[in-house]
Amino acid sequence: MNIAIDGPAAAGKSTIAKRLAEILEFRYIDTGAMYRAVTLYALNNGFIKSSDSIIQSLDQIHISLTKEQPQRVLLNEVDVTDEIRSQQVTDNVSYVASIKQVRRFLVEQQQQFIKNGEVIMDGRDIGTTVIPNADVKFYMIAHPRTRALRRFEENKLRGIHQDINLLEQEIIDRDQKDISRKESPLQKANDAIEIDTSNMTIDEVVEQMLNIIQKFKTSQ
Ligand code: DC
Repeated sequence: MNIAIDGPAAAGKSTIAKRLAEILEFRYIDTGAMYRAVTLYALNNGFIKSSDSIIQSLDQIHISLTKEQPQRVLLNEVDVTDEIRSQQVTDNVSYVASIKQVRRFLVEQQQQFIKNGEVIMDGRDIGTTVIPNADVKFYMIAHPRTRALRRFEENKLRGIHQDINLLEQEIIDRDQKDISRKESPLQKANDAIEIDTSNMTIDEVVEQMLNIIQKFKTSQ
């Protein structure tokens, strides 16, 4: 069984997906982390503004996601789990994710995971492009202010203090870039179930999604 979760930035996808993966004993795949790892590679090598260089470097980029929780992200065997969350990576990732060849390169790897067992995958194009035949598809949304507040609290725990209005604007800008790009834009699949998490706790969202997954399983 495969579960796809899509939605805009900071809608709570990864928090929820990790919980569900733990409960269901599925493998969790954070596809955003993969786009972030490619972005970090380009930044570290000084060619973030050159799509040609990024495309040429793809065969030197090896990304792995560890199976155990908390999941670690390895870029060419180096643990970059924290580095890929930096502001610099966040500011540049939408550009990297808009490059067709980058998407093709990562989508191919994401599709390999499906062959190796039950997965719950989150991103922007999972239900539309990566796993169009996923058993259950969710599309998670939340009001931009709510998302900014959640990111603010998350950052605070990591010792990062960022202006809430700036965070909200950054989230709105990133949504806009993800929605308007030509290649696999952020889009709700026709058969995805939309969940607005604005006024819900994590537990409530998890419970609602588990009920839907359970219904699917009993219908089989
Ligand atoms: O989920 P995230 O914020 O870590 O994702 C980082 C960026 O990667 C996001 O701005 C859009 C892009 N992305 C994408 O284009 N397709 C995916 N499947 C996952 C992420």
